[in-house]
Amino acid sequence: MTKIFAHRGFSAQYPENTMKAFEEAEKAKADGIEIDIQMTKDGEVVIIHDEKVDRTTNGSGYVQELSYKDIRSLNAGHRFKHIGKETIPTLIELFDWMQDNTITCNIEMKNNKIPYKGMEEKTIELIRKYGFENRIIFSSFNHYSLVLSYRIAPEIETAPLLSDGIYQPWIYANAICAKGFHPNYKRIDQEIIKSSEEKNIKVRAYTVNNLKTMKALMNQGISAIITDEPILAREVLTQQS
Ligand code: G3P
Ligand code: MG
Repeated sequence: MTKIFAHRGFSAQYPENTMKAFEEAEKAKADGIEIDIQMTKDGEVVIIHDEKVDRTTNGSGYVQELSYKDIRSLNAGHRFKHIGKETIPTLIELFDWMQDNTITCNIEMKNNKIPYKGMEEKTIELIRKYGFENRIIFSSFNHYSLVLSYRIAPEIETAPLLSDGIYQPWIYANAICAKGFHPNYKRIDQEIIKSSEEKNIKVRAYTVNNLKTMKALMNQGISAIITDEPILAREVLTQQS
């Protein structure tokens, strides 16, 4: 059965990449959450999509030039009138919360624009500390980073993000020791899904918010969809089963 990953948490209704969005995704019965990580000046792994804090918070500047204390003072929920203050979560905060549930976490390492030194090591150290090796999937547009992660921790699944269509992506995934790949849904078809899933290479497409596309991909036997709309996706899945 297709798994549902809430993209940046339940980001259609709550501020993206905040604990509120993750909690609501879990309440919406998502199987997993997709999160984006960056690193502060003092080496804290924090959950935020952009390299800069400007779009999603009331602050400004690059994450890598701010200390964790600076980051902590920002409000990541200020654009949502019905939400109180939401801080940018640390990976530790997320993992503490994950101890009380069974949700899977797709950690997207946002190191394709800024190659944060030591991000893979630090993240893996935390995953091992919490014993979450089987609950994490690493993804990234930086495929070198995924190979490095695999070398450090082969027990943690990796999956390259693919924004463009590539020929026989299941072969590429296999070549970089990945157990799956995460394509833009516009770049795949039934044949790619079938060939990949038959070879046990999981396809998790992003970002699928449209009802018709959800139905089609689920019918084609895709492993997972990554969506801003986990409630809608659960409804579609329930109707189809
Ligand atoms: O992981 C899927 C998706 O999140 C990749 O793009 O920009 O939303 O992080 P983006
Ligand atoms: Mg992402």
